[in-house]
This record gives sequence, structure tokens and C-alpha cells, in this order.
Amino acid sequence: ASTLGAAAAEKGRYFGAAVANNRLGESDYVNTLNREFNSITAENEMKWESLQRTRGNFTFTEADRIANHARSRGMSLRGHTLVWHSQLPGWVDNINNANELRTVMRTHIETVMGRYRGQVHSWDVVNEAFQDGSSGARRNSVFQRVLGNGYIEESFRMARAADPNAKLCYNDYNTDGRNAKSDAVYNLVRDLKQRGVPIDCVGFQSHFNPQSPVPNDYQANLQRFADLGVEVQITELDIEGSGTAQANDYRRVIQACLNVSRCTGITVWGVTDKYSWRSGGTPLLFDGNYNKKPAYDAVLATL
Ligand code: XIL
Repeated sequence: ASTLGAAAAEKGRYFGAAVANNRLGESDYVNTLNREFNSITAENEMKWESLQRTRGNFTFTEADRIANHARSRGMSLRGHTLVWHSQLPGWVDNINNANELRTVMRTHIETVMGRYRGQVHSWDVVNEAFQDGSSGARRNSVFQRVLGNGYIEESFRMARAADPNAKLCYNDYNTDGRNAKSDAVYNLVRDLKQRGVPIDCVGFQSHFNPQSPVPNDYQANLQRFADLGVEVQITELDIEGSGTAQANDYRRVIQACLNVSRCTGITVWGVTDKYSWRSGGTPLLFDGNYNKKPAYDAVLATL
């Protein structure tokens, strides 16, 4: 196959990109997106602050535009993200009462998942619940503070009720190799699975740079999660660098997913270096002029 999406499809996987609504008017952007990718994640438009900035007022205009683009092109859609400490409006952060917070979470999850029911194949139900470092501890957030450790389980149960057909994922970063943080996520997922809490997938963001390179045990780490009986997905891949070194790193990540049968898809966190969230970096597959980089060729050849 001659495009990323078609090549991945031949291997039974999707190949997606994070998409920003405000770039959908740029023809090179849209042409590259439409030609190469068969899955879309909204880069920001399905986050809480984008969808429910004030309590009870849902604004779906930008998210719908991305969802409609995916639908009209026959692309699948990843949902990102429902319960996350960041890009969360202040009115949620200020809730102190457990039952009030539960009600607010349920309303948000039901409304958002309900709107895209039948279209989103996988939702990041909970994002980034653990701290970096060696403690394996939970990250401070309003959800953790007010509801305690059980908030993750509660979120997944609410999500299953809201859309029984979507795959429900836990998503995080710096969990890409074996370390204290990924061990903590592993123990969480094992516990949820053992107790019958509805979780279907684990997302590995896979933001890499010289300080945080692709770990040597990347594939082994994906595999140990897959062995718990969940799908694994590479959800926000980008690798800072250039040239052959960057291409080789991409090759390793793609090969790892292909070698793990339960690794069902890969999403890169943007279409072009021009609009990467890593300002100044060049971590993606197309350069600022939408030319294919060596990393692109490596990915296509590996798929
Ligand atoms: C980033 C977006 O790319 C930026 O545009 C935004 O300003 C901040 O969020 N982990 C995640 C993503 O789960 O939602 C983040 O996306 C990158 C890190």
C-alpha cells in the first residue's frame, strides 16, 4: 500500500492523527490528512474545557466539525478525553462534594459519549491519573481529592453505561517502558480486570525526545499489558529529532505494535511539524511543507 492508513489496514490496524479544527481550512493539511490517515483524534476539541466550559452548557461545534470530517471520509474516530485533571474548567476543580462531583461526571460522560455513540471506536475515559517519578502514586486532581482511588472505576462504569459499544481506555505518558509509573498502571488495570470493572484498552501516549527516548523494553511493556486481556493502542506518538535517527525510532515503535497482536492502532500527535504541540521541535512524519520525512518512509516500509 502507498499510504499509512492503507498499509496499516492491511495489518488489521488503524493509523491516525491528532487533528485541530482550526487547521481544517488549510488545503495542504486536509489533503495530507485525507490521503494518509484513517483515524482521527481531536487534539483539543473533545476535552472538558472545550465541551462544557460552563456548567450545563455544552458546545459541540468544533468537535462536531472534526467528527463530521471523519465520518464523511470514512475515517474512524478516537475519543479524547473524559476525565482528566488538565484542560478542565475551574468550576469542576472547585467542587468539594463527592455526590455533586459524581453527578457532574455522569452528566458529562453521558452527554459527550452519547453524542458520538456509534462513531467513536475507543474513548480515553481516564487520562494521566498517575504522577511521574518512582512513587507510583496517584496524581492530585479534583477527582482524586474528592472521590479517592475509586474515581477511576466509577468513571469506567459510567462510561460503559453511556456507550456500551465503545472500547474504554486508560491513557497515560511515561508508561511506555517498564518503570514505577507503568507498574502502577499495570496493577490498576490488573485489579480492574480481576474485579470485572469495564476496561478494554490501555493507551500509551508515546511522546519521545532525547530526555525520554523510546525505551528498549517498549514492546515487552506493550505485551505485558496485552497479556492482561486488554487492547493496547499507541495514542499520541511523536518523536523529537530528525533524519535517520528519528526514522529508526519510528520504525521500532511501529514494529513493536505489529509484533503485539492486541496492539490495534497507532495515532501520531499531529499531521505536520508546522503545528506540533512541541513548538520548535520536528517530531512528526511530515515537515512544515507537508513533505514526507525519512520517518514517514520508515513507517510506511515497516507497516
Ligand atoms: C496537548 C495539545 O496537543 C495542545 O494543543 C494543548 O495545548 C495541550 O494538550 N497529553 C494529552 C494530550 O493527553 O491531550 C495533550 O495534548 C498532550 C499530552
